[in-house]
Amino acid sequence: MKKESIYILGIESSCDDTAAAVLHNGKILSNVVATQKIHEEYGGVVPELASRAHQQNIVPVVHQALRLANIDKKDVNAIAFTLGPGLMGSLLVGASFSKSLAMGLAIPLIEVNHMQAHILAHFIEAEGQTQPSFPFLALTISGGHTQIVQVNDYFDMKILGETIDDAVGEAFDKSAKILGLPYPGGPFIDRYAQLGNPKAYLFTKPKVGAMDFSFSGLKTAILYFVQNQTKLHPNFVEENINDICASIQFTIVSYLMDKLKNAVKHTGIKEIAIGGGVSANSGIRKALQDAEEKYGWKTHIPRFEFCTDNAAMIAMVGELKYRKSDFSSLDTSSKARMQF
Ligand code: KG4
Ligand code: ZN
Repeated sequence: MKKESIYILGIESSCDDTAAAVLHNGKILSNVVATQKIHEEYGGVVPELASRAHQQNIVPVVHQALRLANIDKKDVNAIAFTLGPGLMGSLLVGASFSKSLAMGLAIPLIEVNHMQAHILAHFIEAEGQTQPSFPFLALTISGGHTQIVQVNDYFDMKILGETIDDAVGEAFDKSAKILGLPYPGGPFIDRYAQLGNPKAYLFTKPKVGAMDFSFSGLKTAILYFVQNQTKLHPNFVEENINDICASIQFTIVSYLMDKLKNAVKHTGIKEIAIGGGVSANSGIRKALQDAEEKYGWKTHIPRFEFCTDNAAMIAMVGELKYRKSDFSSLDTSSKARMQF
């Protein structure tokens, strides 16, 4: 049977990226993201400023996504939007806009769980994407999330472990801040780390449940370490930045890998898919590559544009839900916290 031709417009506004994308039968036609620069000067996301920027960006971003996809809004079959989890003010902008447009075009509205979308981003058809087979383990690592999920099917997912405090991206960013690096600092730590000795300094890994994570203790350990060393040598950070970054990155990456190994042991599943902005990190990519040879894992890393917050992943979930007529009512409401 021939697949029905379906165009989904995806809209994402859960944090500080305003994004829209058009998907046609699983293939990406456009993927537009307006990243809000305003937060850089504050060293972190300021929720109220994020909501305002979404208000300014959402109409032009959606226009551009339709234009790049070379379709008219009347061609769209359904609108998929992020219901949660995220910042309430940011979510409300995307939800209100999506409801109005769906109502105006008289087409279905589809609500999407942002965390499920990070995982299902692997199923977007685009060059360089490899699709995991079920069941697989998903490690979602970003500035807002750190989770290991067992994925039995598209909508059959179980959280095996998650962070009890900061997300791993926050651990990178807060460590970078202590070292005087700009926000977001993850990519800077990664860059310096590649020039340094990962065993130069030792940071202990926080102890929590076998598949859970904790990063707040690590941040404090790094802060005290830097303060103590700087008292003895005022130029300690400047002179040792490569080794400090390499040691921090080594600690975080081996911590992530320890947790993944525990999850593989617990489930017997060796198919691993990662997502989220931190999957750009060269250390975790290398560690996963090595694990393919060392432990016989099969690993999947999506294209970077589908790792960071984006609307293509929202549209992907939208298409999967459209095919089973899983539509939302117009009185559905945004959720700052949300389970699967
Ligand atoms: O997924 P994302 O773009 O936004 C959300 O947090 O939802 O992830 C951003 C996070 C930031 O914390 C940033 O520092 C981190 O991803 N990040 C990295 C790297 N690239 C981005 N962390 C470590 N190494 C990198 N190369
Ligand atoms: Zn995200």
